[in-house]
Amino acid sequence: MEKLLQVEGVAKSFFGVSVLKGVDFDLDHGEVHVLLGENGAGKSTLMKILSGAYQLDAGSITLDGQKLDLSAYGPRTAEDLGIVTVYQNFHLIPHLSVAENLSLASFTHGRGLIRWESVYDHAREVLSRVDFDIDPRTKVRALPVSKKQMLEIAVALSKNAKVLIMDEPTAALSRRETETLFKIIGDIKARGIGIIYISHKLEEVKLIGDRITVMRDGVKVATVTAKDADLDMIIGLMIGKNLSRSRQAREAVPGDELFRAVDLNNPNFSAPISFGVRKGEILGITGLVGSGKTELSRAVFGVDKLNNGRMSLGGRPVRIDSPKQAVRLGIGYLPEDRDADGLCLNLGVKENVSLVYLSKLKGLLFSITSERRTVSGIVQSIGIKCAGLSQQVKYLSGGNKQKVVFGKWLFAGCRLLILDEPTIGIDVGARSEIYGMIRQFVDGGERAVVFISSDMDEVLEVADRILVMSGGALVVELDPRLTTKQEIMKYSLLAGKTAG
Ligand SMILES: Nc1ncnc2c1ncn2[C@@H]1O[C@H](COP(=O)(O)OP(=O)(O)OP(=O)(O)O)[C@@H](O)[C@H]1O
Ligand SMILES: [Mg+2]
Repeated sequence: MEKLLQVEGVAKSFFGVSVLKGVDFDLDHGEVHVLLGENGAGKSTLMKILSGAYQLDAGSITLDGQKLDLSAYGPRTAEDLGIVTVYQNFHLIPHLSVAENLSLASFTHGRGLIRWESVYDHAREVLSRVDFDIDPRTKVRALPVSKKQMLEIAVALSKNAKVLIMDEPTAALSRRETETLFKIIGDIKARGIGIIYISHKLEEVKLIGDRITVMRDGVKVATVTAKDADLDMIIGLMIGKNLSRSRQAREAVPGDELFRAVDLNNPNFSAPISFGVRKGEILGITGLVGSGKTELSRAVFGVDKLNNGRMSLGGRPVRIDSPKQAVRLGIGYLPEDRDADGLCLNLGVKENVSLVYLSKLKGLLFSITSERRTVSGIVQSIGIKCAGLSQQVKYLSGGNKQKVVFGKWLFAGCRLLILDEPTIGIDVGARSEIYGMIRQFVDGGERAVVFISSDMDEVLEVADRILVMSGGALVVELDPRLTTKQEIMKYSLLAGKTAG
């Protein structure tokens, strides 16, 4: 049968750096074709070429047997032809409502007066298609990341797609939302629509993929049938070497208590929360998306107000009413929403990494060369792929942006680091490097990390102690050496009323 989409010899450079070096890719009707590769491999760039956001330097695109005229190819032409994208970084407009965002997506060609009733009706219909129960009048900025992502998907589905591109759609989704998405993908396939699916969650790739293509450094390495694919082989293709994936034995010798929270409470929690972290310790907090993990970190870091509760740091009572106070006390926080909360997109890699550190210097003399040296050390050890230290962060790949936020906090000189889903969007190879850096961070026995993740395997691998949250409360403390994923899952489902 004729291919739905055929891409041949696609090349693209930015500022003289070659990012795609002649890539071939094709897609059948009703197929899910998974695209894998390390951070910065060129996956999103290839997709942006298909969606008309970037123009290619060389190559051709054929849709339904028709070679496309690329001289006047842009986002509008791509969508008119039925190539629709769910982007990796959100394209929603935060201060508009859900309904307004949805209507922007579909009524852009119309003119004249807006009929609000029809806007809301349309929104409700589109939302019900993705089983998304939300008031269309809600402002987008008030939505948690997972809801923003579902909305982004709803927007894409409201367009008339032939080829649907999904760039890490599940990175921020809860398990239930992911299941809903997979069901929707099944329906879309049955309608003959082809889906290009990018993900760093390797376990889901075999679940929904028909074929898998692996890219490395702007080149296509291989295309395999999903059912024949072996995970270790795929990882090998991605990073070009074998990766050992075992829990690193770490004999943690936690010292005195560094931080303690007692009876923290606000409307996000269903019961007061108390916990402590010791020096030299990595405390894992896990639970399903929507169980209250992010809310807990926001409460500790002073983002959300507390109605009740006490905190102490290094044995002394502290008040944390704002992130600024938290930073001054030596607490760092890597938020889960990397674009909105973590980065100054127009500044360079160097400025972003040293931002928090600089804000604490205030008037002291500061050596630019030593800043450069430290930052370039960090950039190298986390493997941030950038054209140079002054490259603006907005030009980095999704995973590399996340690494910059991580580097920023490592450099900031904090005592307590709260990491909320630090490896979302990070490729498997870089992930184990990040684990290593977290261990290194606490190894001196003076500092501690609160490691929040809904990936239970990851928490089991990294944490010295695990707290499980469910339905806005802490439900149990577990020892990673003695517990299992099944047990963690059982406790996560305990309260059975998670928001996700
Ligand atoms: N507009 C741009 N200007 C300059 N460089 C860019 C631009 N867009 C992408 N790049 C560079 O191209 C390379 C590939 O980026 P791309 O976003 O395609 O990676 P990716 O495979 O999607 O990675 P990730 O898994 O991290 O999302 C990166 O090194 C990135 O910095
Ligand atoms: Mg990407």
